[in-house]
Amino acid sequence: MNTKDLFAGAASSADPDEERARQLQDQLRQYDYAYYNLDSPLVTDGEYDLLFGELKELEEKHPHLVLPDSPTQRVGGAPLNEFAKVSHSVPMLSILSDTSYQKEAAQIFDESVRKELGLGESKPVEYCAELKFDGLAINLRYEHGVLVQAATRGDGQIGEEVTENVKTIRGVPLRLVGVAPKLLEIRGEVYINAADFDEYNAKQREQGLVPLINPRNGAAGSIRQLDPGVSKSRPLSFFAYGVGAVDGWRIPGNHSDLLGQIAAMSVPVCELRKVVVGASGLVAFYEEYLGKRDSLPFGIDGLVYKVNDRSLQEKLGFRLTTPRWAFAHKFPPEEKETTVVGIAVQVGRTGKLTPVAKLAPVFVGGVTVTNATLHNDLEARRKDVRVGDVVIVRRAGDVIPEVVSVVLAKRPVGLMAGEAFDLYKLLNGKCPTCKNPISRATGQVDWRCTGGLNCPDQRKQAITHFAQRTAMDVDGLGTEIVDALVDQGKIKSPANLYELEAADLMGMRLAGGNSLQTLSVEKLLLAIAKSKNPPLNKFIFGLGIQHVGESTAKSLASFFGSLENLKKTSRWTVFLIPDIGIEVAIAIYEFFSTPDSYAVVDELIRSGVKPSGLKPIAADVMTFEKILLAVKAVDLAMSPKKQGALYGVGDVPIRAIASKLKTPGDLLHPKIPLSSVEEGARLKLSQLLSSGDWLRTINELESLGVSWGFTPKDNERRMSAKLRKILLSKSDFSDEQLNLMSDAEGWAWVYANQSPSQRRIKSPEICFTGFGVTERQELESQATSVGLHVVTSVTKGLMLLVAGSNAGPAKLEKAKATGITVVDRSGFERFIDTGKIPQ
Ligand code: IVH
Repeated sequence: MNTKDLFAGAASSADPDEERARQLQDQLRQYDYAYYNLDSPLVTDGEYDLLFGELKELEEKHPHLVLPDSPTQRVGGAPLNEFAKVSHSVPMLSILSDTSYQKEAAQIFDESVRKELGLGESKPVEYCAELKFDGLAINLRYEHGVLVQAATRGDGQIGEEVTENVKTIRGVPLRLVGVAPKLLEIRGEVYINAADFDEYNAKQREQGLVPLINPRNGAAGSIRQLDPGVSKSRPLSFFAYGVGAVDGWRIPGNHSDLLGQIAAMSVPVCELRKVVVGASGLVAFYEEYLGKRDSLPFGIDGLVYKVNDRSLQEKLGFRLTTPRWAFAHKFPPEEKETTVVGIAVQVGRTGKLTPVAKLAPVFVGGVTVTNATLHNDLEARRKDVRVGDVVIVRRAGDVIPEVVSVVLAKRPVGLMAGEAFDLYKLLNGKCPTCKNPISRATGQVDWRCTGGLNCPDQRKQAITHFAQRTAMDVDGLGTEIVDALVDQGKIKSPANLYELEAADLMGMRLAGGNSLQTLSVEKLLLAIAKSKNPPLNKFIFGLGIQHVGESTAKSLASFFGSLENLKKTSRWTVFLIPDIGIEVAIAIYEFFSTPDSYAVVDELIRSGVKPSGLKPIAADVMTFEKILLAVKAVDLAMSPKKQGALYGVGDVPIRAIASKLKTPGDLLHPKIPLSSVEEGARLKLSQLLSSGDWLRTINELESLGVSWGFTPKDNERRMSAKLRKILLSKSDFSDEQLNLMSDAEGWAWVYANQSPSQRRIKSPEICFTGFGVTERQELESQATSVGLHVVTSVTKGLMLLVAGSNAGPAKLEKAKATGITVVDRSGFERFIDTGKIPQ
């Protein structure tokens, strides 16, 4: 069969138009494949366009001729309001990776595979060694050979449907060649080629538009666009590396054959892959590509090794979220030497002052770098970077380039006697941009500009943040235009955007030398006008409150339902919102009690911005238990010696109290036995509950619709039958109370009430590893709030090890050896939600 036949679609027909349409579809499909997948065009662009136009006309004339896999269907469809969720029938896993950057990691992986399989020294394992593409993982669902759905990985279980966006990627076949199984899910990575990236960015800059940050961000961002038209404009590519759910296709016995067969279906598969044998084969592959990675046409952040034989893969099986048969061997971030030509200080969106080394341009990690962060005063001093020094710079993945160290041996003689870096001295105590004083809070390392929105730098970034897609979504208002507007004194605050007129914008000069023309002015004004009624969460996110990211903004919006409710929130209410930690709650409350930030919000409302409200869900999520636990958290956070009213009162008694409450007043005149609460604490509790703060919170909750008539169903949790039985026989908990309890809490009670002779551990122990400080605190407080005992080492009695992305091998190995369940953050959260330990 020749290749032309491979692309042939439906059977021929008697209708000449139909026949012509099918013929054109086949032809264009073949041209697409040759162009995008084989990189060897069969026709000129002009010829292609002509045929494409003819097909489009035919399809318009006879809409029934449009098939989902017609080349005309790559147009992208209409913009969406949000992505639909897709539940992956076969979870999209991640791969265990190593960040020690040693070639030995390959040997360690091979050893673990052989050990697991019980193979001796003499039996080498065959691997399929691949590149680790740096983009976004996508699942392509083909039913009967036709692409019907594309979804992102999401959390591995549930992703987002991005079919229309993915269809615009010309290398992704809309129909498989040569096969049409009932179901074949193909998985791979969407990425951007280096050359395409440069070309796209050059064009964007020419037109005064925002360039992409880097290829990886560009790929991920382009797929997660609600408007497929935007995805279509981006130069995306795709490489397949595996399959998901399959029905009606015989999966080859080797991974390498599987990739070969997918490639034969016209799906792009990277040719730079190799079947290698044993650890030595892996190491040789690693060394080969370590040397080649700079000259590849696309970015990779390492290699992936997979046990080639699928029956061995099956034997090896899976850890919680990663297969035992695959391993990601990361490359060390590339490092280069260059010279420091100056040190400047940048002002961040919230005023943070960051020293930045200005560098002689150097090509590192796939981009040309001229600035590298020195992080803060302390770091700059520690590294002792001086203007004129030769330094080592590095750029890892998405991370901003940084100065690793000074090459002291190359320090010019004249610099030897120079002084150590001192940010305050360098700036003379004033913001480099607005000259307002700089300050540093006690215990903090960061200096900040105190100018707020009066500082042009903060103003520019606040406005850009406000306008971005995930906030107010003012299409086309990027940094270039905002910078020009602020520099030319045309706007001072986000609200001023809504007062702009054509005359203000027409001919406005941009930094690149271009100026705004009629068309872009009209578009921009339209986009500004269109942004006036944002969903409340996007508006809140746009305000740029410290620590309030997109998801916190969503929680706030749904809890309060309207801006008015949020604006007047009382001191403690924010603590009651699900998923909002203490530090974040304080930042939110502070924002809304600072006159300056308040003024920004009011000004926006006056200029006609009207976020769309919704029914507050406060009433649906509020329970006495949550209230009391939040009160405990607030109380702990606010009392200096951590000896607040509820100090020492366990979460289990708190839940018991909560389950007896009918109205908040019950707490003050307890008809309920507070026997579990010790006398002193009971007094403090009643003081706390008669405080103005508490009463204001209760009033506010009532005005948000909380009626205190919680139905047990609202709070219902599922408990395993076994635990229920134990608790019914050993405790006084009633059925009703058990309904309110999760497994974790139940087990906590069982452990806490063991007789001393049986007691080995106080309550189920949990250990966190590999998380940043803030995330760790947040997780730990979630754990303690359900009665778990947080420990820092992996011991035999441990119930659960929660591993973050920086988890070191030692704890993981130990957990594995002792048979302790390891979960990631989402696994832990599922555990908290359901109380069930994931298996
Ligand atoms: S295989 C069960 N192969 O790396 C294994 N993944 O943490 C599933 N990636 O999100 C993945 N190149 O998007 C595989 N050649 C390759 C890959 C690759 C890049 C990404 C993938 C996944 C992540 C793994």
